[in-house]
Amino acid sequence: WPFHAPLVHAITELKRERNAVVLAHNYQTPEIFHGVADIVGDSLALAARATETDADVIVLAGVHFMAETAKLLNPAKIVLCPDLSAGCSLAESITPEDVRLLRQRYPGVPVVAYVNTSAAVKAEVDICCTSGNAVEVVESLGAERVIFLPDEYLAKHVASQTRVEIIAWKGHCEVHERFTGAEIADFRSRFDDLVVIAHPECPPDVLAAADFVGSTARMIDYVGKERPPRVLMVTECSMSDNVAASAPETEFVRPCNLCPHMKRITLANILASLRTLEPRVEIAPDLAARARLAVERMLAVKP
Ligand code: 13P
Ligand code: SF4
Repeated sequence: WPFHAPLVHAITELKRERNAVVLAHNYQTPEIFHGVADIVGDSLALAARATETDADVIVLAGVHFMAETAKLLNPAKIVLCPDLSAGCSLAESITPEDVRLLRQRYPGVPVVAYVNTSAAVKAEVDICCTSGNAVEVVESLGAERVIFLPDEYLAKHVASQTRVEIIAWKGHCEVHERFTGAEIADFRSRFDDLVVIAHPECPPDVLAAADFVGSTARMIDYVGKERPPRVLMVTECSMSDNVAASAPETEFVRPCNLCPHMKRITLANILASLRTLEPRVEIAPDLAARARLAVERMLAVKP
């Protein structure tokens, strides 16, 4: 903290001057999450809350697709992504051309895209979803079959919760795909009272070994409500650090898989972006109009 304090102070001052808000994903480091964020949450909450702000400037402390989603919902505001190279292996696993080919292969089958996709991909799909509302979104379409992209493991998890037939793409999260069922079994053998909660981007054997599966916000809510004595959060490293502050009686067993993209965002580049009002996220208007529709349809089903 002593080393972060000058940056936190400078960011707080500049936010006031610029009428800016910082939206931070749950995977941001504690100095961002607790130090400078005005709104924190999972990708669903960040999208929903982005529609409610009356700030002139939004700094999205998260990865590029999250900043694009905020821009889609706030075309007139300045949306800053402190490092434009903060990507996502899921978003990079599929292109607009891939979606067009899928539509040719499965004519008439609606396409659901996880928000972890580029705006260009969102412009090609019927509706978006997040891990917090995927089942509701799939069922809202009233179809017997749905194309669900790009996360194969989330698609499998959704398929296990619904009667709708799911056609999956083979994208993976480079952070969650590294967890294994054997690793979970090893942790369980070390602690009798261990509660395991996992993000649905994990492979099926990890999800099968978990006591609870949910989005990052649902994982945080679970700890807040259930107050387990000892918990293993099978997800990105910073989650346990961020939740630990509000759950002092819970012991966090910390497996650590880092998202290198999330970690590109720092106090220093948040400050620089507020000083220069760059780098901004810009999306071509015709593409943005189509992509916005997919995000707004999702928010109408379950914000
Ligand atoms: P959440 O929507 O659950 O926050 O997940 C976003 C993400 O990138 C997980 O890897
Ligand atoms: Fe993408 Fe995985 Fe990083 Fe989330 S944790 S931003 S899904 S690479």
